[in-house]
Amino acid sequence: MRLLENNIQSYDFYIEKENMSHQILKGLQAPVKSISSKFLYDHRGSELFEMITDLEEYYPTRTEKKIFTESIEEITKAVGDVHTLIEYGSGSSNKIKALLHNFTSLKEYVPIDISREYLFQSSLELAMQFPHITIKAVCGDYTAPLTLPLEEEGKKVIFFPGSTIGNFEPIEVRNFLMKSSQLLKEGDGFLIGVDTKKDILTLEAAYDDAKGITAAFNLNLLKRMNHELGANFDEEQFEHLAYYNEEKGRIEMHLESQCDQIVKIGESEFTFHEGETIHTENSYKYSIDEFQMLALECGFRPSKVWTDDEGKFSVHYLEK
Ligand SMILES: C[S@@+](CC[C@H](N)C(=O)[O-])C[C@H]1O[C@@H](n2cnc3c(N)ncnc32)[C@H](O)[C@@H]1O
Repeated sequence: MRLLENNIQSYDFYIEKENMSHQILKGLQAPVKSISSKFLYDHRGSELFEMITDLEEYYPTRTEKKIFTESIEEITKAVGDVHTLIEYGSGSSNKIKALLHNFTSLKEYVPIDISREYLFQSSLELAMQFPHITIKAVCGDYTAPLTLPLEEEGKKVIFFPGSTIGNFEPIEVRNFLMKSSQLLKEGDGFLIGVDTKKDILTLEAAYDDAKGITAAFNLNLLKRMNHELGANFDEEQFEHLAYYNEEKGRIEMHLESQCDQIVKIGESEFTFHEGETIHTENSYKYSIDEFQMLALECGFRPSKVWTDDEGKFSVHYLEK
């Protein structure tokens, strides 16, 4: 633990190289090649993601923010007297500000993110803006076992915006929600942003924008592997692919090989055929009923839900 300012502590639990090389090699050795979307977020990846959130096509961020702005009083009332707020995948910590202004009983805020510099920078800014709140910035992988530096007392609420929950496969999402529930006691809560099912054109445009920022975000993974794992991917020989898989109810992002080629990562070699892909992200979409059923299965009681006028995005408050 390091003390950065009077009201901020940092905890660094993440070892990129060890985690990355093992998991990435395993994913590329499988019959259908895939890499976890968490590896999209190095510093450049986080910068590109921030640019995505400003795109015309990317409706989730502005819609979720609008819900927070318009419903903040109701949200504050539903959440009640919270002592500790834990945020998964806090990124630039943009959305938390509205909550920190309004959750007047809050004593500690614990943002968790895998993207180290982004996390510590945004936490420092928050610490200066909210000197009465103790900020415990945790660099770590929230899918791995983590011992969080939480105070025992008071009500705890987990905040998980951005529909990042959609990155999990059906089995993973259940494990994740059940594991999260173990951090909480009865009456504690989970405030979560969930993208809804909608027309395919809107969905696909959000993950394949005209300016090519999402493509750059996806392709940045190849650059990252070249820099950090000694790989020799030729970025020109891969293309960004994003489409809605209706049967599975998810957007899929892939990197598609444009030719037959062999790529090296350190000492390991991988053969790619023309048209073969590396599956890099899923983004599952849930109707309100589907998500509430899922929450119930995992030990949460759906307490409140807010949406925009068009039902493009939902924010759920669940109680343990
Ligand atoms: C889709 S972005 C959402 C960012 C922000 N919460 C928002 O709503 O705009 C996902 C965030 O989760 C982080 N992240 C992804 N997988 C993670 C993991 N396994 N452990 C910790 N952080 C992760 C990324 O670094 C990124 O900041």
